[in-house]
Amino acid sequence: MPREIYVIGNWKMYKTGQEATDYINALDVAVKQSKISVYLAVPFTSIHPAAQVSKETHLVIGAQNMNDAREGAFTGEIAGLMLKEAGAKFVLLGHSERRRIFGETDAFIHKKIVRALKDGLRPVVCVGEDAQEREEGLTEEVLKKQITGCLETLDVEGMKQVILAYEPVWAIGTGKSATADLAEEAHAFCRQCIAQLFGEEMAELVPILYGGSVKPDTVAGLLKQTDIDGVLVGGASLDPKMFSEIVLNSESVK
Ligand code: PGA
Repeated sequence: MPREIYVIGNWKMYKTGQEATDYINALDVAVKQSKISVYLAVPFTSIHPAAQVSKETHLVIGAQNMNDAREGAFTGEIAGLMLKEAGAKFVLLGHSERRRIFGETDAFIHKKIVRALKDGLRPVVCVGEDAQEREEGLTEEVLKKQITGCLETLDVEGMKQVILAYEPVWAIGTGKSATADLAEEAHAFCRQCIAQLFGEEMAELVPILYGGSVKPDTVAGLLKQTDIDGVLVGGASLDPKMFSEIVLNSESVK
């Protein structure tokens, strides 16, 4: 069975609640009713307004991070159940900005994934090598370590919920997207890692998205690849017109 296609916008620390509402109102109707899965990862305080204004659409609203505890004395943190109550259905975990700027490790990301699953949020787990690691020929080693560290002990039901995102750090926000061939090579390797951990059947099920400077004119080339099941879009998701184009161009591929 062919895997579903996903286009996920990652707004990062952009857009207030009002701006989120205006953005969703400005999206193409065909995008809001799209047959492919269109997700938006928005700032915490924009989840509720975004979920409200998306009610009659197929858009799925989610968060960009959460804590691994159910609740507790963790000043400034946010729990999965709080995100869910606000209207989130999924959560990005292990984004390279979280790893690099906030020091998140694979072990910590793993705990967050387990919590997200308990709290009924679909985890979108990000992995990817940086420029130096690629230059030194360490890409596969890094991907294997991240995938194993984040996912290894999940049970089958949990793993079925996971969406994996391959995001080479050197391609994020730089305008230097990986070529479709290079991305496919990494995606095939990620799928192989999942097969080693969970078996071939699971590897065939798990959606693997590409992220890193995706634009309306590059998305079709990426999605034509066997192992690329969607895209995670940062900068280009901030403009409703550009994001609409990315969704519509994706729809027409598979
Ligand atoms: P970018 O970001 O599309 O701006 O490169 C992607 C991401 O960080 O998820």
